[in-house]
Amino acid sequence: MDFNQKNLAVRLAGKRIGNNIHFFTEVESTNDVLFRLARDGAPHGTVVIAECQTKGKGRLNREWQSPPGCNIYTSIALRPPIEPVYAPQITLMTGVAVADLLSEYCTGAVTLKWPNDVQIEGKKVCGILAEMSASAEGSVDFVVVGIGINVNIRKKDFEESIRDMATSVAEEAGHNISRLDLTVKLFDRFDELYTRLLDSGFGSIKDAWLSYCDMVGKQARVIFKNDIESGKVLGIDDFGALVISDKKGKIRRVIAGDASVVKE
Ligand code: BTN
Repeated sequence: MDFNQKNLAVRLAGKRIGNNIHFFTEVESTNDVLFRLARDGAPHGTVVIAECQTKGKGRLNREWQSPPGCNIYTSIALRPPIEPVYAPQITLMTGVAVADLLSEYCTGAVTLKWPNDVQIEGKKVCGILAEMSASAEGSVDFVVVGIGINVNIRKKDFEESIRDMATSVAEEAGHNISRLDLTVKLFDRFDELYTRLLDSGFGSIKDAWLSYCDMVGKQARVIFKNDIESGKVLGIDDFGALVISDKKGKIRRVIAGDASVVKE
């Protein structure tokens, strides 16, 4: 088993993301652990990695299934000099980083589904959950970016509730993948795009995001609690909202929910 604190520390030494690693055999949620560490002053680039999570958190208070020994569950602490309204750009940027990475491993189409699902051939392979703490002055204090990637889990081992909707890198590549290599490459790509986001702005990240998104130009429905928004997807805006044109041609911004393409 090469996926451990020692090997990760050797491979990540001196890097901006991952130089400071907290590796656990089991945690409730890597996001929760890192949120506490960041509140106590953990520096930019600190990461938490766990073999398994007992209360892995997904979007909209869902559970993220986190069995041991096969996948990546990690969280990255950032201290970005941005206003809180732009924090969703970091979630979208993370989606691009994961999509770029997984495209190297699989021949199947890697796509992004708003707001943050990475899919291979239409099945979810990765989820991203960013949580922010803002200071009293209204600036971002820190952001914790949680990333869960189904790496070597096999279809038969997914819980039945998600078996038909989920996939793993190994299922798509046809062989098991080194989690050590994948984690190192993930942090490297993440750092490249994060640096680009801060230095050059959101433009090229947004273009990359849209190039991975197969919803643009299609009719979609977004469900959030009891609300349903429907319309043709035009794209995303600089605040991470999905921009749609409703049936009267009115432009609407959707900021949260589950999106799916519907037949016209
Ligand atoms: C989603 O698609 O609903 C988001 C899932 C995010 C899961 C990751 S696993 C690592 C980190 N810790 C958590 O508790 N959640 C995120």
